[in-house]
Amino acid sequence: MANHVMLFGFLFAFLATGNQTLTSFTRSCNDDPYRCDKDLQMVGGIQNTFITTTCCNTDNCNKHEIQVSEHNNTVNGRLCEVCYGLDSYNCNINGYIECRGDQTDCVDIAVTLEKIGSSLTCMQCSTVSETSCRGAPHVCNKNDTSCIDILEITKVGNQTLIGFTRSCNDDPYRCDKDFQMVGGIKNTFITTTCCNTDNCNKHEIQVSEHNNTVNGRLCEVCYGMDSYNCNINGYIQCRGDQTECVDIAVTLEKIDSSTFTFSLKGCATPDACTLGPKIIPAAKITEEKRLLCYRAHRIVQ
Ligand SMILES: *[C@@H]1O[C@H](CO)[C@@H](O)[C@H](O)[C@H]1NC(C)=O
Ligand SMILES: *[C@@H]1O[C@H](CO)[C@@H](O)[C@H](O)[C@H]1NC(C)=O
Ligand SMILES: *[C@@H]1O[C@H](CO)[C@@H](O)[C@H](O)[C@H]1NC(C)=O
Ligand SMILES: *[C@@H]1O[C@H](CO)[C@@H](O)[C@H](O)[C@H]1NC(C)=O
Repeated sequence: MANHVMLFGFLFAFLATGNQTLTSFTRSCNDDPYRCDKDLQMVGGIQNTFITTTCCNTDNCNKHEIQVSEHNNTVNGRLCEVCYGLDSYNCNINGYIECRGDQTDCVDIAVTLEKIGSSLTCMQCSTVSETSCRGAPHVCNKNDTSCIDILEITKVGNQTLIGFTRSCNDDPYRCDKDFQMVGGIKNTFITTTCCNTDNCNKHEIQVSEHNNTVNGRLCEVCYGMDSYNCNINGYIQCRGDQTECVDIAVTLEKIDSSTFTFSLKGCATPDACTLGPKIIPAAKITEEKRLLCYRAHRIVQ
């Protein structure tokens, strides 16, 4: 009997951090009948994966589209522990999730994956003088999941420093942020936008007006240039969405490979604090003495 090659289509859709959708599609030969004609769901709150496979077994038969059926979204009375750890095998459980439709099993998975297929391509360029740059296409690493544009405006005294970068991005948490770190003398405003089709990051970033109304919260304020010591000189009133205090003392390596050491205390938006060591997206932190955020004090009337 002739050896029939089983041909195989494979669809992989991955939703990370709420509003990002990553899709991949593969056609290939297949040696494992258990992979055939499956419709799998793994739902972990932040990251939700839906995989549909179809198989067939005549020469070159795998040339059709996969029809993705509507998922049954009705809760089915079952619960699983839920958590998601990116770049980590540790997943800190933050409660339970209600299972839906045919989801009758709980999953507990900690793996490192190497992606197959071709990599994403993103525009790449950077400038320290303009609020935009014209990039050239660049093939990303396999672990890059989106293209990113980052606009960073820093005001030190009456000087304004601009940095603009387009690149590949491996961290969904850096995407679509608009954050502020305000330390009296030094004020940084960073806006990022992500997208995930080839060379999609070629647009201008529109910077929205910042809400400048004081919000009744206070943070200690100081700025130390070339120093990890920041001598507190009182309090600053937080404005708009700045509900956190930030305390940062780091050395950064900038895109032109120069290094810069500073310390700062002041008000920040919560987005700034969720980024941790990637708080300055366009630069790499080479030494971190302090990087803390905490809820800002309310002014007692
Ligand atoms: C959807 O899932 C619920 C809960 O498991 C089940 O009762 C219902 O019959 C399902 N509906 C369909 C159309 O399959
Ligand atoms: C992605 O890959 C690049 C190069 O292989 C590496 O420098 C970077 O640290 C990786 N990022 C993550 C999040 O693994
Ligand atoms: C800032 O502005 C003041 C007054 O406009 C000026 O005297 C001073 O030289 C400026 N400082 C810098 C660093 O440009
Ligand atoms: C601006 O910030 C203040 C203080 O947080 C808030 O009360 C107000 O609703 C904000 N205005 C807008 C337009 O978001």
